[in-house]
Amino acid sequence: MSTVDRLQQLAAALPKAELHLHIEGSLEPELMFALARRNKLSLRFKDVEAVRAAYAFTDLQSFLDIYYEGAAVLVQEQDFHDLAWAYLTRVAGDNVRHVEIFFDPQSHTARGIAVETVVAGLVAALQKGERELGITWRLIPCFLRHLSEDEAFATLADLAPFVHHFAAIGLDSSERGHPPSKFALVFARVREMGLKVVAHAGEEGPPAYVTEALDLLRVSRVDHGVRSLEDAALTERLRREAMPLTVCPLSNVKLRVFDRIEDHNLKRLLDAGLLATINSDDPAYFGGYLGDNWRAVATALPVTEADLVRLAGNSFAASFLGPDDKARHLAAVDDVAARFRQAGG
Ligand code: ADE
Ligand code: ZN
Repeated sequence: MSTVDRLQQLAAALPKAELHLHIEGSLEPELMFALARRNKLSLRFKDVEAVRAAYAFTDLQSFLDIYYEGAAVLVQEQDFHDLAWAYLTRVAGDNVRHVEIFFDPQSHTARGIAVETVVAGLVAALQKGERELGITWRLIPCFLRHLSEDEAFATLADLAPFVHHFAAIGLDSSERGHPPSKFALVFARVREMGLKVVAHAGEEGPPAYVTEALDLLRVSRVDHGVRSLEDAALTERLRREAMPLTVCPLSNVKLRVFDRIEDHNLKRLLDAGLLATINSDDPAYFGGYLGDNWRAVATALPVTEADLVRLAGNSFAASFLGPDDKARHLAAVDDVAARFRQAGG
């Protein structure tokens, strides 16, 4: 068997967690049309092919414009349920055992949809996924950083009755020009409420935004963070603090952070000793779910079997699972790796 075939086999066999997935970004065009029909909304696209043809992005903003437009078909509790259920059934086949899912409450409340509608639909699907597919979960609402901090405070008040469903609050949307410092006060309040903090930083924005996320928001994970390697002192700090980075390889290529998957710096992040993980971000828009991202990494990057085992372990180590669950999953990763080595000689 070729080296790449072996890496692919190992990538497929390893148990994994996904820690960076925007549920609105898993809205496939087929479901977009079905929900538009159900909710008697019209789309500006003729058919699903026309939607897919529009997915030629030049940067983050060009994607976000169409992503927020697509999310407008989500209206009823059942819509949010069906969205999350479609995602869960799709990743169950990729040996995904645990998911930590982002959603953007402000994309929905701005259209008059109550937070309760969104949360009830998502939680119902996630609970069903845990029962029927054995996939555990955490839920993470995100503030949209192109909006104001006052709007984030108002959203936090909307979220407060459902806080028992959330593991953390995140920060996403247009990064450039919207540094983490803009949200220092609201995330201080988030932490006072007992929630963890995560933030997109160093995707398109400079390494200084990663430093701000660490110092001012006190994040438990950095989402993306790939530009951190431009700053040697920051890289060393991330290593020393074992700060997880939720890296999204296919997303970074689709949004032109890297020109080609072969240019992606995931292997360099690992070699720098960073706690990097593989994730899909917005799989319906970026041409791949978690398994596709793992396959792309195993095929196009100079990773070793040990790197893949480490990436699988990192996905659980960086999760918000408790210590017993983490230990159980890490033992399962080691077990699969040991069997693989034995079978392959
Ligand atoms: N929202 C959905 N996907 C995102 C990404 N890759 N970066 C920032 N905000 C997002
Ligand atoms: Zn993201």
